[in-house]
Amino acid sequence: MSDITLNAPKLFDLTGHVALVTGAGSGIGQRIAIGLAQCGADVALLDRRTDDGLAMTARHIQAAGRRAIEIAADVTSKTSLADAVSRTEAELGNLSLAVNAAGIANANPAEDMDEDQYQTLMDINLKGVFLSSQAEARAMLKHGRGSIVNIASMSGVIVNRGLSQAHYNASKAGVIHMSKSMAMEWVDRGIRVNTISPGYTATPMNTRPEMVHQTKLFEEQTPMQRMAKVDEMVGPAVFLLSDAASFVTGVDLLVDGGFCCW
Ligand SMILES: NC(=O)c1ccc[n+]([C@@H]2O[C@H](COP(=O)([O-])OP(=O)(O)OC[C@H]3O[C@@H](n4cnc5c(N)ncnc54)[C@H](O)[C@@H]3O)[C@@H](O)[C@H]2O)c1
Repeated sequence: MSDITLNAPKLFDLTGHVALVTGAGSGIGQRIAIGLAQCGADVALLDRRTDDGLAMTARHIQAAGRRAIEIAADVTSKTSLADAVSRTEAELGNLSLAVNAAGIANANPAEDMDEDQYQTLMDINLKGVFLSSQAEARAMLKHGRGSIVNIASMSGVIVNRGLSQAHYNASKAGVIHMSKSMAMEWVDRGIRVNTISPGYTATPMNTRPEMVHQTKLFEEQTPMQRMAKVDEMVGPAVFLLSDAASFVTGVDLLVDGGFCCW
């Protein structure tokens, strides 16, 4: 036993941290952003939505006693991301945590998919995660500490039976391997990079027309016999971002109710 003074619950405490969360106006990003605040972090919320999604997230964070700022921006814009990081640091302090959850999904048989549909999804899901991580890491590298979690998907590991979404699956496989690659580039400079790969999760993304009738099937196909609740993505994100995971980098954490075992 090397350090019996270690306070285990404190390992998950994010007090004093400043986080940036993309896709914070809905679903997984929204719930994780609130969870980070509940663990003590101040949070910058980024999304391209124009409804009150970001404001709702901010209200929950303020109710948890933490500070939040709302940033309307698109993750495909490098300059918007640089501005978002600058504003975060100016208003909240040095950026030390990031969760990149912004993403889209759609489907089309590969033989019918046009180039625009392919490219738009890749630009958001893969290039958007790259540009977000790059902007965040540029700040974190200056401070010599940081932890980034990119939201991939079990679709980066398996092919979803019945869903024609080759572009989506490829984007998520890309996020996993790109994140491992960045983890290794920054491993000796205080930055950790990991991914979370959710299984089927009840969010607005799964209310798109081609998914609604599949929900029952998703539940049946998942060993735990249900979809995940967004709440269930908070613990894995807090773990990977926090000191509890201080020796964890380049990992893909499947949060899939056992889906990929079968
Ligand atoms: N819901 C699932 O079953 C599931 C499973 C595995 C992985 N994921 C991934 O989790 C992430 C979050 O998805 P969700 O289910 O919460 O969906 P969601 O639609 O509820 O939330 C996604 C958010 O990202 C934002 N966004 C999309 N494109 C953007 C852009 N270009 N710039 C800025 N913001 C943008 C949207 O406005 C939205 O608020 C996505 O990357 C998704 O691929 C979801």
